[in-house]
Amino acid sequence: MIEFAVPATFSSTSQCSNGAATKYERTGSSSLLSPKLNAPAPVVEIFEFATEGEKGAMLKDHTTPSQILKPVRRNEFVFYEQTYKDTPFIRRFAPHYFGFEMKDSRTYVKLEDLTAPFSRANMMDVKMGVTTAGENESEAKKESRRIKDGKTTSLPLGMRYCGIWLYNPEKKDYSVKDKTWGKSLTASEFPSQLDWYISNAGRNSIEKRLHIVNYFLEKLRSINEWMETQPTFRMYSSSLLFLYEGNNENSFRCDLRMIDFSHVNKVTEERPEKDEGYLKGLHNLLKYLNELKEVYQTLM
Ligand SMILES: Nc1ncnc2c1ncn2[C@@H]1O[C@H](COP(=O)(O)OP(=O)(O)O)[C@@H](O)[C@H]1O
Ligand SMILES: [Mg+2]
Repeated sequence: MIEFAVPATFSSTSQCSNGAATKYERTGSSSLLSPKLNAPAPVVEIFEFATEGEKGAMLKDHTTPSQILKPVRRNEFVFYEQTYKDTPFIRRFAPHYFGFEMKDSRTYVKLEDLTAPFSRANMMDVKMGVTTAGENESEAKKESRRIKDGKTTSLPLGMRYCGIWLYNPEKKDYSVKDKTWGKSLTASEFPSQLDWYISNAGRNSIEKRLHIVNYFLEKLRSINEWMETQPTFRMYSSSLLFLYEGNNENSFRCDLRMIDFSHVNKVTEERPEKDEGYLKGLHNLLKYLNELKEVYQTLM
């Protein structure tokens, strides 16, 4: 096991505050961010391409353009310092971890910016599992989360949308569906939204759609195989982040990663079960994507 020091800030409750974000401001109706007039361009800005999560919490340090800074609580910090370093599979599927830094008495992990290789990434955040309640939370908290999750697609499908961002090259802007929208969907509405996300690859480009579906299927099969055969931990409220190029019909670049590790529990002898909730979501995603693949093949 790797020895590491946990920053002192984790003993305080300030982790919930949004202190870092107050230094930066959004302008006008545009979703883009810009510095105050006459002020020098800031080196650190809010990372604008966050499909969900605490608003304005994720930061972009322009001195290291391929990285973002995510404010974390203790659990996620320990995950990156320990589980990430100890688990080759996680290193393959999570964003690359560059260490951590302190800012305004919060701890930030420095992560690979998954949007960096794209001109404009079309992104979809799917939160996995039948419940977002972590095993270490109080019974009251678990119960209230279960009630909320029961009203979403999480319970029946083992997943729900937390955000979809699609780029419109003509308007040079994103259309955004947020987590409130994701929570409002029914299970029967889920698959058509998957088609809507992938079909933005270009109305005329069935080839690109098929490429994207095949790419996602291959990655999901690997994750599924690993979680079925070598279960090492169970994850709650964790997401899969899907990305493909949205600003160039001729670019077939795609990516799919596991993100958001705030509630991870190791599989132990006392609790050896696999992560059935996450697996349920994976099986449904594989099923829906296979169905979409068949549809796109008939259009070729
Ligand atoms: N490494 C990354 N690169 C690019 N975007 C990311 C990365 N990690 C997260 N995001 C974006 O930020 C959003 C929130 O991240 P997440 O880790 O889920 O934070 P939270 O714990 O606040 O939910 C995600 O939906 C995704 O759009
Ligand atoms: Mg999240």
